[in-house]
Amino acid sequence: MSLFFTFLLLFSSLLPSLNALTYRYYDHTCPNLESIIAREVHLATVNDKTVPAALLRMHFHDCFIRGCDGSVLLDSKGKNKAEKDGPPNISLHAFYVIDKAKKAIESACPGVVSCADILALAARDAVVVSGGPHWEVPKGRKDGRISKANETIQLPFPTFNFSQLQQSFSQRGLSIQDLVALSGGHTLGFAHCSSFQNRIHNFNSTVDIDPLLQPSFAASLQSICPAHNKVKNAGSPMDSTTTVFDNAYFKLLLQGRSIFSSDQSLLSTPYSKALVSKFANEQRHFEKAFVKSMVKMSRIAGAGEEVRLNCRVVR
Ligand code: HEM
Ligand SMILES: *[C@@H]1O[C@H](CO)[C@@H](O)[C@H](O)[C@H]1NC(C)=O
Ligand SMILES: *[C@@H]1O[C@H](CO)[C@@H](O)[C@H](O)[C@H]1NC(C)=O
Ligand SMILES: *[C@@H]1O[C@H](CO)[C@@H](O)[C@H](O)[C@H]1NC(C)=O
Ligand SMILES: *[C@@H]1O[C@H](CO)[C@@H](O)[C@H](O)[C@H]1NC(C)=O
Repeated sequence: MSLFFTFLLLFSSLLPSLNALTYRYYDHTCPNLESIIAREVHLATVNDKTVPAALLRMHFHDCFIRGCDGSVLLDSKGKNKAEKDGPPNISLHAFYVIDKAKKAIESACPGVVSCADILALAARDAVVVSGGPHWEVPKGRKDGRISKANETIQLPFPTFNFSQLQQSFSQRGLSIQDLVALSGGHTLGFAHCSSFQNRIHNFNSTVDIDPLLQPSFAASLQSICPAHNKVKNAGSPMDSTTTVFDNAYFKLLLQGRSIFSSDQSLLSTPYSKALVSKFANEQRHFEKAFVKSMVKMSRIAGAGEEVRLNCRVVR
């Protein structure tokens, strides 16, 4: 009997580190969690159409640095510069939406829901409010205590080629199918000139423009982003329907109308190109693959051990 309890104790002390996420994690401790978050995402989107794209990217960024542990949400403190103040933070915004949701959740069920889970759910709701699919999000992540600006260089760059992207994803347990499906996140949002500058000025020593760009599209990107760009925050929508979660991104990609070199590179291997065509042909195929890959990405384990009370500061 005492041996049994010793085992039980040992086992339960190991449980948090296993990071086993479950779909019904908050069923008893915070039953209204999901409707609270859905409401906040909806309200924020009514006010600002750029919110869904920001939340989706924020979750991706969170999961790729230190696992999905809410590290992207922490503010810099003292001498520590946090992820959100690191170099590729140009597109990060809408942190206030997470703050508002957290506040509402803390008053409904204090101290139980992690910020990492709130962000994972908000990213799902961002897709839903944009007309995309709904899916169940596994929950039970814990919040991390570390966020370092210099670690954001571990995010994939928009200049990456296919093998660099594949490596970045496989280091996190994600496949080529995940890479292609998740790149479809670029159906939402906006890119600044600096992120695709490489394709339209000094592409290499012999050509100025990436020859894989459709010429008229390249010309329009160049006119938005001249070589010596003086317009602050200039840039391009990611696809033709930036607030709608659809497969236009894949259709445009096949026409030479993608924004980043990383997008373009998805056409550079037969397997990934076939996936792009499949997703371009059938919205349903894209949605199914995207959902599967989002759940997988959202399971990238972090080393968090706490539930923050304020998503911007550790406990
Ligand atoms: C495959 C590797 C990826 C690269 C290299 C990449 C790169 C980028 C870059 C450079 C930007 C624009 C930043 C700016 O100029 O403002 C961006 C925006 C965005 N990315 Fe990605 N990304 C990748 C994967 C993903 C994934 C997996 C998702 C989510 C599933 C995602 C969702 C977004 C969204 C929604 C935006 C628009 C953000 C906004 O408008 O606020 N990206 N990405
Ligand atoms: C991005 O980082 C700069 C400093 O490096 C900071 O001033 C700015 O507020 C950050 N942007 C966001 C959205 O956090
Ligand atoms: C970030 O900086 C810390 C020191 O502040 C260093 O130990 C760490 O290796 C750096 N990480 C990266 C990815 O450069
Ligand atoms: C991708 O880029 C890396 C780093 O620049 C380079 O070593 C590699 O040869 C490139 N791969 C392809 C297929 O172009
Ligand atoms: C520049 O890019 C073009 C088109 O991809 C290619 O044909 C050419 O070999 C490249 N030149 C150099 C020097 O890399």
